[in-house]
Amino acid sequence: MAFLEAQKLVKEYKRRGKSFRAVDNIDFSINPGEFVMIEGESGSGKTTFLNLITGLTDPTSGVVLIDGRSLKDTGDKEISKIRNEKIKYIPQGESLLSALTVRENILFPFTIGGTKRPSDERLLEVAGKLGIAELLDEYPSELSGGEMRRATIARAVINKPSLIIADEPTGSLDSANTSKVMDIFREIAAEGTAVIVVTHQKETLGYASRVLGMSKGRFASAI
Ligand SMILES: Nc1ncnc2c1ncn2[C@@H]1O[C@H](COP(=O)(O)OP(=O)(O)O)[C@@H](O)[C@H]1O
Ligand SMILES: [Mg+2]
Repeated sequence: MAFLEAQKLVKEYKRRGKSFRAVDNIDFSINPGEFVMIEGESGSGKTTFLNLITGLTDPTSGVVLIDGRSLKDTGDKEISKIRNEKIKYIPQGESLLSALTVRENILFPFTIGGTKRPSDERLLEVAGKLGIAELLDEYPSELSGGEMRRATIARAVINKPSLIIADEPTGSLDSANTSKVMDIFREIAAEGTAVIVVTHQKETLGYASRVLGMSKGRFASAI
């Protein structure tokens, strides 16, 4: 069964009094272990789509199902648990806490969430693969933008969630670090995580098991 499914998703916004569809009637599903990349120009609706499937934005119409349950069914305790524990969303921009070291940032979800803290071995493995092992005791203010980005990605992948969603995760990275990030996404997908990555960098599309081209709120083509 698909881990996540979207049916007839629509999101309308208004611009100068006129409404338009940032996401226009999208059907989508992803199975465990799939690595889907969504490529499209700026303004094509990629971020809006991610915000809908993670439940950060309510759709104008349509439904999102996770493990067969509607994301909107907030009375369902199980769905909040799945959202909190099994789905990791890496938004555009930085989201590290400045008062915590890189290590503390990566482990932060496990100090508040009640889910099992990853082992030190796993922490070192992930930090090593992302090239930030030397930076674990530094504070975010001492890091470059690309290093912060990779620390954010380490935090998301460390516990092998069921679904990882990343919005232009390699936009600020050089090609060597882009490969490190894509390699780790591909690796956790091979271990069963469903991965959705949005990008406008065509050179990274080869990592995906499926590529969708987005244009004007729709998936226009399988590239
Ligand atoms: N909160 C909002 N209110 C009004 N319009 C929005 C809002 N968020 C996004 N849009 C518009 O919806 C379209 C899609 O935006 P977005 O999903 O951010 O595109 P992308 O991530 O592909 O660059 C754009 O025209 C954008 O200006
Ligand atoms: Mg965007």
